[in-house]
Formats: sequence, C-alpha cells, structure tokens
Amino acid sequence: MHCTKNITSDLVWVGADDRRLAFFEGVYGVPEGVSYNSYLLLDEQTVLFDTVDKAVAHNFFENVAYALGGRKLDYLVVHHMEPDHAATIEDIALRYPEAKIVCNAKIKDMIGRFFPTDLSGRIQLVKEGDTLCTGRHTLTFVMAPMVHWPEVMMSYDSADGILFSADAFGSFGALNGRIFADEVDFMHDCLDEARRYYTNIVGKYGPQVLNVLKKAAALDIKLVCPLHSFVWREGFGDFLAKYLKWASYEPEENGVLIAYASVYGHTENAANILAARLCDLGVKVKMYDTSVTAPSFILSDAFKYSHLVFAATTYNAGVFSTMEQLLHEIAQHNLQNRKVSLIENGSWAPVSGGLMRKILEPLKGTEFVGDTLSIKSALAEGQLAGLDALAAAIAASVKGE
Ligand code: FEO
Repeated sequence: MHCTKNITSDLVWVGADDRRLAFFEGVYGVPEGVSYNSYLLLDEQTVLFDTVDKAVAHNFFENVAYALGGRKLDYLVVHHMEPDHAATIEDIALRYPEAKIVCNAKIKDMIGRFFPTDLSGRIQLVKEGDTLCTGRHTLTFVMAPMVHWPEVMMSYDSADGILFSADAFGSFGALNGRIFADEVDFMHDCLDEARRYYTNIVGKYGPQVLNVLKKAAALDIKLVCPLHSFVWREGFGDFLAKYLKWASYEPEENGVLIAYASVYGHTENAANILAARLCDLGVKVKMYDTSVTAPSFILSDAFKYSHLVFAATTYNAGVFSTMEQLLHEIAQHNLQNRKVSLIENGSWAPVSGGLMRKILEPLKGTEFVGDTLSIKSALAEGQLAGLDALAAAIAASVKGE
C-alpha cells in the first residue's frame, strides 16, 4: 500500500524508509535507519526527482503510481547516480515509457554504464543555469560536483523557492512518519546523525561544498528537499551554519575528544587519568574505545571538537589496528585545523606514537600539543607528572591561554 507525504499543494514525497540496512555504503552503521527521498511534482507536466535504493523499490513504485493518479510521467530529473538514489532509474524508465530523463552529460555516461537498457534516446541534457518550465514551475539546474560524486547537480524551483539539494543537507535516520525537520527537535535529537552523515559521506570535499553553498546563497530558498532525511521549511539557518563549519573544517566546540586503543586496559587507564585531569581543569571531554565504537562515530566527533587525543598500544610493531583504521579514516576525510596530542604504549618497543604522528602530520593546520607520553606496559608512578603536564598543556590550549 502507498505511503506518501504532501510537501506542498503539488509536490509529494514518494520515497521510503529502510530500517533493515546494517551498513550504509557497506561501511556506515545506521542504527536509526535511513530514508531514500524521491519527490513528485504534479504541475501541467509531471516531474519525478530521483529514484530510490533497490531495497525499497516496491514501496517506491506503489507511491509513484498512487501520486500520479493515472497521469503519465513526463520527466525524471536525475541529480545523483549513486545507486541509493539511482538503482531504480531503469525500472522507472520502463514503467513510464514517455518520461524524458533530464540530467547532465556525466550522469548520462553513468546511466549508460549502470543499466543494460539503452536509455540514451530518452535523455534531455542540461548544464549549469539551464531551465525547464513545467507549467507554473520553472526549474533551474545547478551543478554541484563532488557533493558527493562528480556528476551531482541540484535543481531550484523559482515558483515555490524549493532547492532539491541531492545529498547535501541529508542525514542518517529514518523519517518514521514525519517529513519536515520542524516536526522534530532536529538540532537536539538529530544533529549527531546529521553530522555523522555529512562528515563521513561528504566531509572530504569541504571546498566543493562551500562552492555550492555560495551559489545557493544567491537563491531565495523557502524549502530544501534533500535525498535523505527531513525537508526543511523553517529553522534552516541553524543547520546551514553547522554545514559552513563542517565544510570549513572549523570545530563546533572547544573540547577534547579522547580515543584510545587498549588491549589489556593499561593504555585505557592512562586515557582515563588524562580525562579526569582535564575535567578537573574545567575542560569538556568525550571518550571512545576504538575497539568498541566504529570509526564513523568517532570521526564525526573529531569534526566537532577542537582538540583530539589518540592513545594507542603498539601491536605487531605498528599501531593497534582499530586505532590505525580510525586515523586513516580521519586522514582520508581531510580533517584540518585540529590540535592533537598522543599517548603511546608498548611493552618492549613502543612505536605507536611516532606512527600515529606520521598519519596525522600531513593534515593541513594540524598542531601537536605537549610531548607524546610514552608508556612501557603500564603508566609508572613517576610518569604522573608527565601526564599532568600534558593535561595542563591541552587545557591551556583549549582555553586559548
Ligand atoms: Fe545518498 Fe551519494 O548518495
């Protein structure tokens, strides 16, 4: 049975939630599910904006058929070819043989590679600034390369001030019956998952995101319709401000993220003592065990906080694997402008500190605070002064002293 939501008098959400997916893109856990958004515009001509992941194809086809109410589909606008939105393009094209596929040249190439059916004769190519009038509405196409793939584009409807923003302004998390961000306390209840989505999916491409945000600033936007999560009709400025920080690699908060990798608890013990000292000094601390928490959650908080402490044991003459994976993820996502401190451990040849430094040093704007604390097996009584000194150096840096 269909399950649609009205966005405006002539725009309908025809997407679906997926709460069974274990790992989005095969790597990011989605304990709160995810939504795949598709929108149908019922103007003099009908326009479907993007499709959905194959996991929810059945619900999607029912929704589109219901919302069309027997009308034909005139256009399918494709903004992004990642299969969480594009997997059902071929099915839609076959179900609605009169529909033209509106997209740019890069998207056309990808359609040709992803699907066995030759859809090239159905394609209407557009480029930056081109328009499509469908009756009351006129769509203007805005190219948005690398937000999140190179072919990505957005559409702006000048009649109702709607930005169809592709992956931008999306989030992990199912909609659970809601559709507008103002139906929940988004900044309190949903921001962590929105940050985790942005930083892991698009975080590497901050400059490209800023370019698109500059273009969008020139538009009179009343509604933002992303491909995942809620539609924005009010309060968007607060979320946009977060995007500007994330894309600029500016921390949201002065505080310390401590991530540790500890086999038998001795590295963890040093991390705990450091956290206790920092709290005594009035510094906000968030802690993660890299063997327990997946990298996507820790990376997200690495974008949030100004100061990062990594404490890891040496393992196979390298960095313990869960920490090594986290640090490579952080480096691959291009995190910048963070203050970093290190603790290493090793019972006979501690080398993890130098190796962690080597991964993080090339990141633009990285500054190391305090000396690397080197533990052999367990923190020695005589090393407490060194730990206190590290805590003092970090606290002074957090407070800008
Ligand atoms: Fe939601 Fe880049 O796809």
